[in-house]
Amino acid sequence: MRDTCAGIRYFDTGTTSMFSSREPLSLADVAKEVAEMTRGLKNYRDRRLRLRFPAGEPLSVVAQRTEMKQVLLNLTINALEAVRPGAGEVCIEGRRRNGWVELKVRDNGRGIPREALKHLFEPFFTDKRGAGEPGTGLGLSITHAIVEGHGGRIDAHSEGPGRGSRFTFQLPAAVAPKRGELQEADA
Ligand SMILES: Nc1ncnc2c1ncn2[C@@H]1O[C@H](COP(=O)(O)OP(=O)(O)OP(=O)(O)O)[C@@H](O)[C@H]1O
Ligand SMILES: [Mg+2]
Repeated sequence: MRDTCAGIRYFDTGTTSMFSSREPLSLADVAKEVAEMTRGLKNYRDRRLRLRFPAGEPLSVVAQRTEMKQVLLNLTINALEAVRPGAGEVCIEGRRRNGWVELKVRDNGRGIPREALKHLFEPFFTDKRGAGEPGTGLGLSITHAIVEGHGGRIDAHSEGPGRGSRFTFQLPAAVAPKRGELQEADA
């Protein structure tokens, strides 16, 4: 990913220089903030967005807050754009899984053809070009770079056209503080 285009290389450099601003944070809280942000956008008011997080589990990771917002916002906006007004539903859910925090953004929208699944995370891959909707095709490549830059992984799944999509990413869970410091969990 790092060498594939000048834009992403620039983005990676920015990520590295912001390394020091990583902090322990709750991905459940970031998801709530992102949900509020999208609920304020009039384009998506006719689509349902649900959050499903375990009670009392903050889903803590050590990460750069604005980058985490960017990841969840990119995935959520893509999902909201993929669903039909009225019947469209998007769900952001999270859980802890072994030493990882896992988030999923699911939708019941137009789905993704098998061939396209292989290219989704490449820069400039988009089906919005020329379709009257704005879309650069950079959202998922940036999302991928951020998740991997945090030691995580991301994948996309769809049963095919018309059958919705699911994007799942995992980041190392933050472990309980030792001697006053938060550390990242072993993978
Ligand atoms: N939830 C989804 N359902 C169906 N297709 C999706 C979904 N998420 C992404 N895609 C497909 O992946 C492509 C790439 O997504 P990406 O976010 O990188 O770019 P974009 O949304 O087209 O433009 P932008 O850079 O403005 O985000 C989309 O054009 C779309 O074809
Ligand atoms: Mg996008």
